[in-house]
Amino acid sequence: MTSPAATVHVNLPGREYDIQIGPALLGQAGAYVEPFGGRKHVAIVTDENVAALHLQTLQNGLRTAGLTSEALILPAGEATKSWPQLQRTCEWLLDQKVERGDVVIAFGGGVIGDLVGFAAAILRRGVRFVQIPTSLLAQVDSSVGGKTGINAPQGKNLIGAFHQPSLVLADTSLLGTLQPRDFLAGYGEVVKYGLLGNDTFFEWLEANGPAMAAGDMDARVQAVRIACQMKADIVQRDETEQGDRALLNLGHTFCHALEAATGYSDRLLHGEGVAIGCAMAFELSARMGLCSQESPSRVRAHLREMGMKTDLRDIDGELPDAAGLLALMGQDKKVVAGKLRFILARRIGDAFITSDVPPKAVLAVLSDALAER
Ligand code: GLY
Repeated sequence: MTSPAATVHVNLPGREYDIQIGPALLGQAGAYVEPFGGRKHVAIVTDENVAALHLQTLQNGLRTAGLTSEALILPAGEATKSWPQLQRTCEWLLDQKVERGDVVIAFGGGVIGDLVGFAAAILRRGVRFVQIPTSLLAQVDSSVGGKTGINAPQGKNLIGAFHQPSLVLADTSLLGTLQPRDFLAGYGEVVKYGLLGNDTFFEWLEANGPAMAAGDMDARVQAVRIACQMKADIVQRDETEQGDRALLNLGHTFCHALEAATGYSDRLLHGEGVAIGCAMAFELSARMGLCSQESPSRVRAHLREMGMKTDLRDIDGELPDAAGLLALMGQDKKVVAGKLRFILARRIGDAFITSDVPPKAVLAVLSDALAER
């Protein structure tokens, strides 16, 4: 039986690249990376968890094409997206004598991809980098589209640059080593794509999501391919988020307030917040008469069937009141000229961007959700 595999092309003139998706790609990494040229010695930046599980396989895969490599292994976790680790990464890459023509590999989840992508953007005014995303969230979202950066004390992702990778290698075998909670958090971003722009994909997820979570490789490749194709289409239309790219933030205005309220801790993973935020965005849309009341119910039903967090009552511990959560939304990057920007929906698969949302309607959704806790 042949292994499933797929390629998605991101067609940005002068900065185009392929996203290769399929199982066991790590062992063939050399064949993919070597054609970029540069030195035969590759710098890899990764984290402790990924290094323990997969670094050897990647380095062996590079060696099959005659590439030697050295790895910088950073601490795992969100705190790594910081100035000190950025400085450490840039100085290590300079010590490795990385030059403009060389390729740096970002090998990990969203934290490593964002940090290393930013280091590659500013090192020698820009070196090429390859994303090898190891989490589902990174494979379907953060490794694609060139958003890179670190966090500031004032908020997440506030310091960064657009810098497109030269290649994304999404090895779907790596998803087999994720903790179920991390897999499902990434699945929150997968569902987001169906909800924002593809009702057929959402239907497909309703039918195939459970098999995908259970390990079905065909389903995993299909889901990553469709999500990446949708992201590529949007990024091609609007690389720097002047318009349509904001659709990818469906669920994120609620999510960012909830992440801030839970201290960016294990109480709520980003993808879990996205899933809850998507359900709340549909609830708000329904209450504003924009979509049918069945839509939020159907969104929640699918998330629940997958065993995911769906409502505020699924978040352990204290939360601020509705006014407190609304105030946290006000600190989000998505505030334009003092007005909150929401992604709302006319139906499943048809989202749109609006700043025309009465704060009273948001407060009502939040207080009803808090009252159910
Ligand atoms: N993760 C949202 C974006 O890449 O635009």
